[in-house]
Amino acid sequence: MFHRTSLRLTVLNAVVFFVILLGFSGIVYATVQHHLLRKVDASLTGNIGAKPAVFIENQKLIGSTQAVMKIAPLQADVRMITLFWNARGEPTGDLPFDKESTTGFDFNAFRGLPEDDKPRTVESSGHSYRVLTHRVKTVKTGEPAPSDIVVTQTIINIDPELGMMRSLLFIMGIAVIAGGGAAVMAGSYLARRALVPIRLSWERQQQFVSDASHELRTPLAVIRANTELLLRHPDETIETQSDTISSMLKETKRLSKLVASLLTLARSDSNQLELAKKRLELTKVLHDAAAKFAPLAAFKGIDMSIDVEEGLHAVGDEERLQQLCVIFLDNALKFTEAGGTIRFICKRCSTAATLVIEDTGMGIAGYELPYIFDRFYQGSRSRSRTDSGSGLGLSIAKWIVEKHGGTIQADSEVGKGTQFAISLPLVAG
Ligand SMILES: Nc1ncnc2c1ncn2[C@@H]1O[C@H](COP(=O)(O)OP(=O)(O)OP(=O)(O)O)[C@@H](O)[C@H]1O
Ligand SMILES: [Mg+2]
Repeated sequence: MFHRTSLRLTVLNAVVFFVILLGFSGIVYATVQHHLLRKVDASLTGNIGAKPAVFIENQKLIGSTQAVMKIAPLQADVRMITLFWNARGEPTGDLPFDKESTTGFDFNAFRGLPEDDKPRTVESSGHSYRVLTHRVKTVKTGEPAPSDIVVTQTIINIDPELGMMRSLLFIMGIAVIAGGGAAVMAGSYLARRALVPIRLSWERQQQFVSDASHELRTPLAVIRANTELLLRHPDETIETQSDTISSMLKETKRLSKLVASLLTLARSDSNQLELAKKRLELTKVLHDAAAKFAPLAAFKGIDMSIDVEEGLHAVGDEERLQQLCVIFLDNALKFTEAGGTIRFICKRCSTAATLVIEDTGMGIAGYELPYIFDRFYQGSRSRSRTDSGSGLGLSIAKWIVEKHGGTIQADSEVGKGTQFAISLPLVAG
C-alpha cells in the first residue's frame, strides 16, 4: 500500500517539477529570443526611420539614383544590407551581391514582401534574415517618390542570434533532462521520507484498533455467556442468580470505562478533543479529587495522606485534571495492599506545581517502566489480577499532562512502591 503511494508521490513530484522547469525554460528562451530580435529590429527601424527624409531631400537635390545609393553606408549595424527596388520590381543601385549569386545571397527571397515597415524573418539559402520593407514616399506630400527607387529593404543576417538561441536551447534541454532525472530521485527520496511518519501512525492506529477489539471481546464474551446461563434457567430468581448478574454488571462497567477511554484516545489522536481550559484554583481541584479516594483507601485498610499547598492557580480543564488524579489514585489503590500507604502531595516549585503520588505497593519492574505509558500496556503482574484494567489509564494521563504543558516522571522499585511526579505550570494567584 505504501509502496504504491510512494510511487505515485514520486511521479507527481517529478511531473510537477518537470512542468515547472519546462515552463521556466520556455520563459527564459522566449525572453532571450525576444530581446535579441528586438535589438535587431531596433537597428532595422532606426535605420529606416532616420533616413528617408535625407534620402528624398538628397534625391531631389541631386536627382540621381547613384547619389541616393551613397546614403546606404550610413547603416548602424555592420551586418546590415540595404536593397533598393525599382517600379519594375528589379533590384537597383549598388547591389550588395553579384547578380550570379556567387556569394550565396539570393535577393529573390526578398522580392514582393509586404511594404508595411514591419520586421519579419526570411529564410534563404540556409541563412536567416530579418527584413524590413519600406515604400519610399516624399516627406511633404506622402506621394510616391519621383525616382527610380520605390521600395527599400534593410536586411540583417540573424544567423549569429539564431545560433545563440540554438545553443541556449541545447543547454536548456540538457538542464531539463538532468533536472527531470534529479526530480525523480529527489521525489522518490522525499516521498519515502514523507511517508515514514504516516506509516508509523498508520501502524500505531492498526495496533490500537486490534488491541481495542481484543479488549472489548473479553467483557462481551463474559456478558454473553452469563446471559445464556440465565436463559437456561428461566425459573430461577434474581436472588439465586445474583452472582451471575453481578458479574455481568461488573463487566458492563468495565466495558463502559473501556469505551470511554477508547473514545478519549481516539478523539485526542484526531485532535477532535479540545480541553475546556480556564483559570482555576488548582489547590481546590486536586484536593477535592484526592479527598474522594480517602474513604476507599480507608475501606481497603490503606493509610492515605493528602497535602496540597494553598494558593496554587493554573489554567486548565477542571474535569481532565480531576480525571488525572483519579487515574493515579486508582492505580495506587489497586496496586497497594492493606497496611500500605498512599501519599498525595502538591507543592509549588518556582513557576510550576509538582504533584507527587506515592504508594508503598507492589512496584513496577525496571524493564517495564519505559512502557507503562503505552496504550494497553499492563505490567505482567497486574495482568494476572482479577481487577486488572485495560492499560489505558496512564496513556490518557500522559495526554492530559502534555495538553496542560506539563511533564510526568515515574520511579518505582518492586516490592517497595511507586512514585509519580507531575509538573504543571502555574499562573499568578
Ligand atoms: N501505582 C502503581 N503501582 C504498580 N504498578 C503500576 C502503578 N501504576 C501503574 N502501574 C503499572 O502500569 C500499568 C499501566 O497502568 P494503567 O493505569 O495505564 O493501566 P491499568 O491500571 O492496568 O488499566 P486501566 O487504568 O486502563 O484500568 C499497570 O498495568 C501496572 O502494571
Ligand atoms: Mg490504571
